Amino acid sequence: MVEKLGVWREEYRVGIERIDRQHKILFCNIKLLEEAISRQDFSAIPYLLDMLEIYFKEHFREEEIYLKEFPGFEVHNRKHWDFLGEVLKFIRKYQAGSRDLPALATEIHDFLYSWLQDHILTTDKKELSQVVIGS
Ligand SMILES: [Fe+2]
Repeated sequence: MVEKLGVWREEYRVGIERIDRQHKILFCNIKLLEEAISRQDFSAIPYLLDMLEIYFKEHFREEEIYLKEFPGFEVHNRKHWDFLGEVLKFIRKYQAGSRDLPALATEIHDFLYSWLQDHILTTDKKELSQVVIGS
């Protein structure tokens, strides 16, 4: 179910300004997807999904630059690329058409939102704090 929750919160702060800004942009873009679903504007959804995939990819590359010298890098990296694999599967499913596009768009939205929230709180905050402490 799409809920009104696509905004960044203070508890997501990792302490690296660039990364926090990128997380805010990701939440804003997920919010745009949520709004398109609420408006039933399904023509916008393929573009929003492409934009999210591209921006997530760029964001992960940047996080990986910060993390590459620290323990846990490989596991963290794997989580990013496994997630992108799931996003791509969803995008292909959407492009292939579905009998129920609203339900699929909502499923994609909920997956993106909950993954990002969970990943920031359980992984990014813990591992990027090593970079903050070390700087
Ligand atoms: Fe991450």
